[in-house]
Amino acid sequence: MKFMTLRNLALFIGLAGMSTAVSACVEEGPAVPPPPAPPEYAEKHMPEGWWADEKIIEEGRQIFIGAENIDVNCASCHGKDGKPVKAGARDFRSAERMKLYSDSVWFWRVSEGVKNTKMKPWKTKLPEEDRWKVIAYERTFGLKGKEYDIVKKEWVPVGTALPRDTVLPTAAPDGAPADGAPAEGTPTSAPAKAKEAKAGKG
Ligand code: HEC
Repeated sequence: MKFMTLRNLALFIGLAGMSTAVSACVEEGPAVPPPPAPPEYAEKHMPEGWWADEKIIEEGRQIFIGAENIDVNCASCHGKDGKPVKAGARDFRSAERMKLYSDSVWFWRVSEGVKNTKMKPWKTKLPEEDRWKVIAYERTFGLKGKEYDIVKKEWVPVGTALPRDTVLPTAAPDGAPADGAPAEGTPTSAPAKAKEAKAGKG
């Protein structure tokens, strides 16, 4: 008698595969911030001027819907109008969630994908410029008219981002302005006065 028939073996392998399929079907949860971009992506940013460039956005749309390359069809999961058509695909219409993604994080995810999900790495199919174009388009579903300000680290109306080389003044730990002058209205001597008053007695 054989210990494990070929048929049983096939059944066993099938069951093991099923558990991964189930985990890919989870619903969109609350707006959780994504993990930070790894160092090799942390300094990658949208080319200057592209957030506002309608031609770039249209080229991004062509990539997104698979018109450029039939093998790259983001819409087949994320939906032509941004409404996901495959379970678990990120819903870019959710501004609440997507505003937590910096341009670098967005670019990292498109490049490297998300492990153990249907979101594959696209870096071998899309050159860097095409990845940025598709992001310029994807953000129109929930963050239309916005651009990512890499100095303030937040989404702002297009055209209002600070110049990228702006150095923000760093506030001193006690809240005093960076130039060292005490902040206006800072109580400096109140505790000392109270001590004096006590000592004066007797
Ligand atoms: C086969 C289906 C599929 C295709 C095709 C696909 N995605 Fe995704 N995508 C997913 C799924 C599923 C997720 C959710 C992954 C997760 O759970 O974090 C996702 C998530 C994302 C995210 C967010 C990642 C995160 O950290 O939340 C971005 C950005 C994204 N996709 C962009 C794209 C772009 C751009 C394309 C086309 C080049 C594309 N996707 C094609 C299925 C797909």
